Amino acid sequence: MIDQQIKTALVTGGNRGIGLAIVQGLAKLGHKVLLGSRRLSAGREAASTIAGDVIPVELDLSDRLTLKSQVHAILEEYPKIDALVNNAGILEYGSLLEIDEEQFDKSTRVNFEAPFDLIRLLTPDMIQRGYGRIVNLSSGWGSFNEGLTGPSAYAVSKAALNALTLTLSQSLPQSVKVNSICPGWVRTDMGGAGASRSPEKGAETAIWLATLPDDGPSGGFFRDKRLIGW
Ligand SMILES: NC(=O)c1ccc[n+]([C@@H]2O[C@H](COP(=O)([O-])OP(=O)(O)OC[C@H]3O[C@@H](n4cnc5c(N)ncnc54)[C@H](OP(=O)(O)O)[C@@H]3O)[C@@H](O)[C@H]2O)c1
Repeated sequence: MIDQQIKTALVTGGNRGIGLAIVQGLAKLGHKVLLGSRRLSAGREAASTIAGDVIPVELDLSDRLTLKSQVHAILEEYPKIDALVNNAGILEYGSLLEIDEEQFDKSTRVNFEAPFDLIRLLTPDMIQRGYGRIVNLSSGWGSFNEGLTGPSAYAVSKAALNALTLTLSQSLPQSVKVNSICPGWVRTDMGGAGASRSPEKGAETAIWLATLPDDGPSGGFFRDKRLIGW
């Protein structure tokens, strides 16, 4: 069951792909959605295609200081953020021995460190207000249980994101929930045209986790609303 109260959600990488479908789905449920994108023009364009209360905000995950100042600017206008969906991600190819340091660092930065930065910036207020939902877009390619089969930098950064989810859940109060999700193989720029799922299908579980009721789970890794192994 979805909590029907109107909440404010921030979705990173909301301008296209699964992020856009998450924004659409949350707006359709009546929530206010801050659509994060590193290029505000792309965010504005995406937001203009969606019915509902969708506000484009600039959010570039590549650099910690820039990200912090952008979050502070967002919080000045929207101080109460109830749900954070860490959706933005990048996929770099190459084995650990082949990939250059820059690609590896970039993957770690966008897929792991930036979600952690956002969590640290937004969670204290969630704890204080007694409500929060954090959703980390991970991948089966970052699952030990499924063999860490993704391209190396991607697999390592998503496994680290999963570790962050589980570790964080152990120190958060029940009222602030954090979960990881694998959206499946989704038809986006990242997933490619041959992928089996639509962005809307890929967004379903993330939307569910962003709107969990008070007795919903925390510290889990989900696909199709079912727990999967780390
Ligand atoms: N597609 C799949 O099959 C699949 C499978 C498993 C997991 N996932 C995960 O699901 C999430 C969404 O994937 P997707 O398929 O929708 O990817 P996508 O189509 O490639 O979209 C990626 C989004 O992330 C944003 N982004 C990338 N780097 C950024 C940065 N430095 N700062 C801010 N935003 C940045 C992009 O913004 P720009 O438009 O500015 O580039 C874009 O909005 C990712 O975390 C991905 O790892 C996807």
